[in-house]
Amino acid sequence: MSILTILLYPDKRLNTVAEPVHAVTEEIHNLIKDMAETMYAAPGVGLAATQVNVHKRIIIIDTSPARDKLRAFINPEIVEATGVSDCEEGCLSVPGVYEKVQRAQHIRVRALGADGAPFELEADGLESVCIQHEMDHLDGKVFVEKLSRLKRQRILTRIKKRHSDENAR
Ligand code: NI
Repeated sequence: MSILTILLYPDKRLNTVAEPVHAVTEEIHNLIKDMAETMYAAPGVGLAATQVNVHKRIIIIDTSPARDKLRAFINPEIVEATGVSDCEEGCLSVPGVYEKVQRAQHIRVRALGADGAPFELEADGLESVCIQHEMDHLDGKVFVEKLSRLKRQRILTRIKKRHSDENAR
């Protein structure tokens, strides 16, 4: 297993639309293991393959307090979405930035698990928000791109300033 490099916003590769997985092979198993190690080490509650520069439709999440309930979703699809949630989100690709994003409150997701078997899951609260956030990555969308232009501009300015501070050191 190995820790993978996480792409950082505004890296253009984060805007790539991921391709469906056609077969859940050993390579996919190994990718999921590496993604899990990367997510736990960060630490984060979710990670999309897009963020480690692999453009396949795979996300993982673990929103459990004990960090022992890893879930992998291959080719995830939202089949039902109801209600509205306005939750503060963060992203491993946008470190230090937390902003409220509007999403569905309750979702039903259909996907293949790490074993290649199809399953459906109903999710609410943090789990629901997390799945929607990670699925956006597969469509090449970073959560800050859902914010107003002004907010996004402020975030970009902050990121540029941080980079120039780091380079000056
Ligand atoms: Ni993210």
